Amino acid sequence: MRRPILAGNWKMNTCRESARALASALAEQVPASRDDVEVIVCPPAVYLETVLAAASGSGLQVGGQNSSDQEPGAFTGETACEMLTDLGCSSVIIGHSERRQFYGECDSVVNSKTKKALASGLKAIVCVGELLDQREAGKTKAVLESQMTGSLADLSVEDMANVVIAYEPVWAIGTGKVASNEQAEEAHACLRTWLEGRFNSDVAAATRILYGGSVKPDNAAGLLSQPNVDGALVGGASLKPELFIPIIDAGAATVA
Ligand code: 13P
Repeated sequence: MRRPILAGNWKMNTCRESARALASALAEQVPASRDDVEVIVCPPAVYLETVLAAASGSGLQVGGQNSSDQEPGAFTGETACEMLTDLGCSSVIIGHSERRQFYGECDSVVNSKTKKALASGLKAIVCVGELLDQREAGKTKAVLESQMTGSLADLSVEDMANVVIAYEPVWAIGTGKVASNEQAEEAHACLRTWLEGRFNSDVAAATRILYGGSVKPDNAAGLLSQPNVDGALVGGASLKPELFIPIIDAGAATVA
């Protein structure tokens, strides 16, 4: 049984007060005793401490949106994994398509960041996903397999206990164009088959694969009920409790 994860990627949004208010509203929904789903919020780095304070005592987990593959040192503008764990973060998003597209992160960078996050005790939420032209050219499976091969290079079976995969088709991010339930399921099944071939059937059965890209309250139930969809990585809709809470509920309904 894979416990669903509902994760909110706030991207470069919120201010200190709205971050605090959003985290408080979500923390109320996620008491420490809640064990049906995992809920993670990933605020901008400068608000991590504010959000961690608001989440304190609850079951709401807090993660980074990005981290360095380096030890603390002379790397201007970067956030070390050690800093995330020092604050109390559980996890970090690695290789989001916006990092890949706008900051030149290739699979080998994603791989070294993933290894560093795991070595630091963080759960790594590793993102993959095809561009629209790649999908239209029938290359989705090849693109996903190649991203997985590069991003998870050298990882062991034991490492995989702390890896979560996020399938985010780039054409569905922030566009309102959501993948159909069938498109999401097909891609997730392909990723799970890849995990079985690269690792083993236990890893394939245990690894959570989240869908991301225009998840909203009205499409969440359909996506989350697909057999290989184990949660969601939500952008825009994670910024409003009235949108994110129904998505959490939709995740919980799949295990009820
Ligand atoms: P949207 O939900 O805004 O499409 O963003 C998805 C995403 O990129 C989450 O990481």
